[in-house]
Amino acid sequence: MERSVSNPPLPPPLAEFLAARPWLTTRAELPGDPVGMLGDQESALFQLLARDVFAGRGAIVDAGSFLGRSASCFATGLRRNPAFRAERDRVHCFDKFRVNGPDTVRFLRDRLKLGACVGDSTRPIFDAQVAPVSELLVVHAGDFHATVWDGGPIEILMVDIAKLPTLLGRLVEQMFPQLIPGHSLVVHQDYHHPWLPHIHVVMEYLAESFELLVPQVDDSALFRCIAPVPPDRLLRASAYDFTKTERIDLMAAAIARLPQEQRHSVAEAQVLQLAWLGETTAARKAFAELDALAQSPGASRHWLSQHRAVADHLEDRELAALMAAHEWPAALARVDASLERRGPGAKLLAHRGRALLELGRTAEALVAVRAAATSPDFAGTQSGDPEFWVLEARAQAAHGDRSAARASLGRAQSCGLGSTRREELARRLRLDDAPPSAPQSAAASGD
Ligand SMILES: C[S@@+](CC[C@H](N)C(=O)[O-])C[C@H]1O[C@@H](n2cnc3c(N)ncnc32)[C@H](O)[C@@H]1O
Repeated sequence: MERSVSNPPLPPPLAEFLAARPWLTTRAELPGDPVGMLGDQESALFQLLARDVFAGRGAIVDAGSFLGRSASCFATGLRRNPAFRAERDRVHCFDKFRVNGPDTVRFLRDRLKLGACVGDSTRPIFDAQVAPVSELLVVHAGDFHATVWDGGPIEILMVDIAKLPTLLGRLVEQMFPQLIPGHSLVVHQDYHHPWLPHIHVVMEYLAESFELLVPQVDDSALFRCIAPVPPDRLLRASAYDFTKTERIDLMAAAIARLPQEQRHSVAEAQVLQLAWLGETTAARKAFAELDALAQSPGASRHWLSQHRAVADHLEDRELAALMAAHEWPAALARVDASLERRGPGAKLLAHRGRALLELGRTAEALVAVRAAATSPDFAGTQSGDPEFWVLEARAQAAHGDRSAARASLGRAQSCGLGSTRREELARRLRLDDAPPSAPQSAAASGD
């Protein structure tokens, strides 16, 4: 996948561009400076690719447009390209334009001071942000899983939508056959990112069709298509049909291709892949090696924040496994160690409450649950989760406060708890009977 003399020669504009590395010294100039999830160098790279490298031989695809920043980068660059032909050249934007989770809710609050809920449309924000370039865009709104690409050759394909193997599969199936061998560029914006190991696995599997031109620009990696993807490979890659061993080996090969100092985020992706494949011991070992590197003074802030997020995720998985196995003393020890390392957070405090409740330490359980409910991140993490209110109801009932427990079950129901489960819990916690003579036993488990 790295540049090799046997690969087709680079088109001269691309060769010059790669030699000059202008994304390191240029800032993207964007009317209105649209907000988005790109770094400064990536923004410049996208704009400059459209301005200086695009040759009018196919479409520019912006797969994962969000609020329009990447689309604006490509469209503004395209407009300044001397080869631009208004009747021919377009940037195709793909997105479902919906607030897809708490991270996006937080992003809209912090960056645009907008209150939004999961499921709300983001299309009005996209439309406002891309207004200065809207005539250059073709917008394909909807779930990318159903996308059919019938727009002919693709010259630049920016991938920021492959959040699941199935989404990457759709992209590979629909769009990779339209890449022009020797010419088309693919940017994987999530390459230096721990959470999407399928991207590395698939690109490594297709290594004979793609060379890695620029291993890292912010979170992105830039590839060139050097040969058509053979049909059998296209089929396997789009179905993500790989054994456990293949996935682990392909990822190891993808890491080995990168310069030593650019391996960290992808090595984190291998840690997560190992954990998700059930290779817990190997995941721990790989994580420990990264943990040692994370102590070194040269570790970048960006990677360290990814590393901490991976550490949290591994701890959370371990805790979830202990809780699922009803190993309550070990779960309490695990959650206390996490609270010590990460500081108080609503979710961890709720887990602490659950472990204490199961251990019959009801007064302490209630304190932990109340601490969760007053934690600053409660609204963003727990307040909409019916299971939090079930837990609170159980702790209150165990403590003998039946009217508070009834109110909590009511909140659980308003957050989506089914009425059958609510009635069953009310019965188990004896919330519908005459007052009991003594506090309920914690054995009224919520499971
Ligand atoms: C990280 S954002 C893209 C950021 C964007 N490129 C920018 O410049 O700010 C990823 C986008 O993928 C979109 N997405 C995720 N899953 C999708 C799906 N199944 N169908 C369509 N879009 C999807 C999300 O809606 C989100 O806007």
